[in-house]
Amino acid sequence: MKVLPVVREQGAGSGSRRSEPQERLATEGTAPRSLLPEGVVRAAVLADVPALEALQAPYVATGDLLPRSNYDLCRHIKEWVVVAEPGDGSILGCGALKIYSAELAEVAGLAVRRDRQGVGLGRALLEALLTQARDHGLAQVFALTRKPDFFLRLGFAPAEKEQFPEKVWADCARCPRQNCCDEIAVALRL
Ligand SMILES: CC(C)(COP(=O)(O)OP(=O)(O)OC[C@H]1O[C@@H](n2cnc3c(N)ncnc32)[C@H](O)[C@@H]1OP(=O)(O)O)[C@@H](O)C(=O)NCCC(=O)NCCS
Repeated sequence: MKVLPVVREQGAGSGSRRSEPQERLATEGTAPRSLLPEGVVRAAVLADVPALEALQAPYVATGDLLPRSNYDLCRHIKEWVVVAEPGDGSILGCGALKIYSAELAEVAGLAVRRDRQGVGLGRALLEALLTQARDHGLAQVFALTRKPDFFLRLGFAPAEKEQFPEKVWADCARCPRQNCCDEIAVALRL
C-alpha cells in the first residue's frame, strides 16, 4: 500500500508526526499538530470507490459536497487521497487535488466521516494534497467551500470566485445552485 510522503517521509522516524507542510502552515498561524498515527493517508485506489461514494453521500445530501458519479470517481481516482483506519483499512476521510493548469489546482471533495471528525484527519488530508501540489510545482491552490473557517485555520486566505474562471467553467456553469451559490472561495499560495 503506497503511503503519501506527507505522512511517512516527513514524519516517520523523526519522533514527530508533523510533516514539513504542517510546519510551514504552523508558521502561518495555524493550530497545534494533530495526533495522527503515521501512514494513514494514502493514494486512493479503484477498490476505494464504493467507500468514497458512501463517505461523501451524507455531505452531498447536505450540499456540502458536489455529487460525483461512480464513473467520475473511477476516471479521476488518481486525484484522490484517503485516510484509512490502520486496523481494518476502512475509509475515514478523502480529498482530491484537481489540477487546472501548471500553476493552479483545486482542493475538492474533502470529507471526514462524522464519527471521526475533530481529531486531525481533515488536516492530514489537506496537507497530503498540499504536498502533492508542491511536488507538482503548482503556485496556488484554491477551494470553494461552505466551511471556509477550516481552510482559513490551515493557512488559506479569502479569495474571489472570479479569480478562478477554470473552476467556474468546469463545475459552476452546470451547477443547479449557480445563481444562489453559498460557497466561499479560499486560496493558498504555495
Ligand atoms: C471540514 C472537515 C473535512 C474537517 O475535518 P476534521 O477532520 O473534522 O478537521 P480536523 O480535525 O483536521 O481540524 C483541523 C483544524 O480545523 C478546525 N476545524 C475543523 N472543522 C472546522 C470548521 N467547520 N470550521 C472551523 N474550523 C474547523 C479544527 O478545530 C482544527 O483546528 P485545531 O487544530 O485548532 O483544533 C469535516 O468537518 C467534514 O468532512 N465536513 C463535511 C464535508 C465538508 O464540508 N467538506 C468541506 C468541503 S470543501
